[in-house]
Amino acid sequence: MTLIKKVAVIGAGQMGAGIAQVAAATGYNTLLLDNNEDALKRGLAGIDKQLSRAVEKEKITEEDKKKTLANITTTVQVSDCTDCDLIVEAIIENVEIKADLFAKLDVLTPPETILASNTSSISITKIASACSNPNRVIGMHFMNPVPVMKLVEIIRGLQTDDATYEKIKAISEEMGKTTVLAIDSPGFIVNRVLCPMINEAIFLLQQGVAPEDIDTGMKLGTNQPMGPLELADFVGLDTLLYILQLFHRELGEDKYRPCPLLIKYVEAGWYGRKTGKGFYTYE
Ligand code: CAA
Ligand code: NAD
Repeated sequence: MTLIKKVAVIGAGQMGAGIAQVAAATGYNTLLLDNNEDALKRGLAGIDKQLSRAVEKEKITEEDKKKTLANITTTVQVSDCTDCDLIVEAIIENVEIKADLFAKLDVLTPPETILASNTSSISITKIASACSNPNRVIGMHFMNPVPVMKLVEIIRGLQTDDATYEKIKAISEEMGKTTVLAIDSPGFIVNRVLCPMINEAIFLLQQGVAPEDIDTGMKLGTNQPMGPLELADFVGLDTLLYILQLFHRELGEDKYRPCPLLIKYVEAGWYGRKTGKGFYTYE
């Protein structure tokens, strides 16, 4: 018996696909939703590939892979997620688009359904205010890549009730994650510390230091698995810029000013791994 039966994950990008994979492997009936058919196909293919790799490495059996895939269905219709115990939103990092989605979910779902956001930086209080039952809205911030990273940051909005918090903590643990409780302040814990560090690395790049030297320096000098520029490409430069702009605006200090070079890269459509080019070039 699992804590919940059915979960919907909205957004089938790198985070949504990872969350859906872990939810399905936990045994939840998992509905993966995206408004883009191709993104859904790519998301599902990525899950299949990750599970096949795990079988090859004998981390899971072929039977486990089949069971996990059988737990996943896909849709492009938001109206299909009316019977879920939990909805985890992992769409584009944009406050207006997220608030619009939560307002729809508020009407479509019964008040018992928990509405969680995987936002990296946006106020949960603000997202919750788009709902008539804001007490059931919460931040459930998974880290990338979701199947590997052990952490879920939980963020309570001003309106989030104790029952919603306790349930999300228990579900995160059932999904094999360790939780920390952050405050509802831009970037919460992890990104508040991580993103200014990455921004600083981009300033160094702008000043002429070679990207490989920045990344090797930080990897070998501070034992991080990826250097900051590699990690920026992995997260997505569009997402990173949104986060830094939000910090600059809402925390109101110049130290959060996004590096002009990052702005230029995003203007060029160089978002990192997902577009094949960022600070490095990918196949
Ligand atoms: N999805 C699922 N699993 C993946 C994966 C992916 N995209 N990429 C790698 N893995 C798995 C591999 O299958 C492998 O699994 P096993 O150990 O079970 O065999 C394991 O991760 C290690 O992979 P590799 O040996 O291929 O590569 P690696 O040792 O270089 O590790 C990494 C890859 C795990 C991504 C590692 O480089 C790493 O930890 N990087 C830092 C990640 C990080 O900091 N994430 C947080 C980003 S910030 C964030 O998420 C918050 C936000 O809001 C922006
Ligand atoms: P992504 O660009 O890989 O995927 C976003 C997906 O959302 C796309 O497939 C897009 O088609 C879909 N989408 C956009 N608007 C939609 C809508 N209205 N309805 C349905 N689907 C919609 O982005 P990502 O990196 O997976 O990030 C998703 C969320 O997770 C963001 O809020 C981001 O800040 C957060 N996050 C990202 C990371 C990371 O490292 N990339 C880590 C933790 C949290």
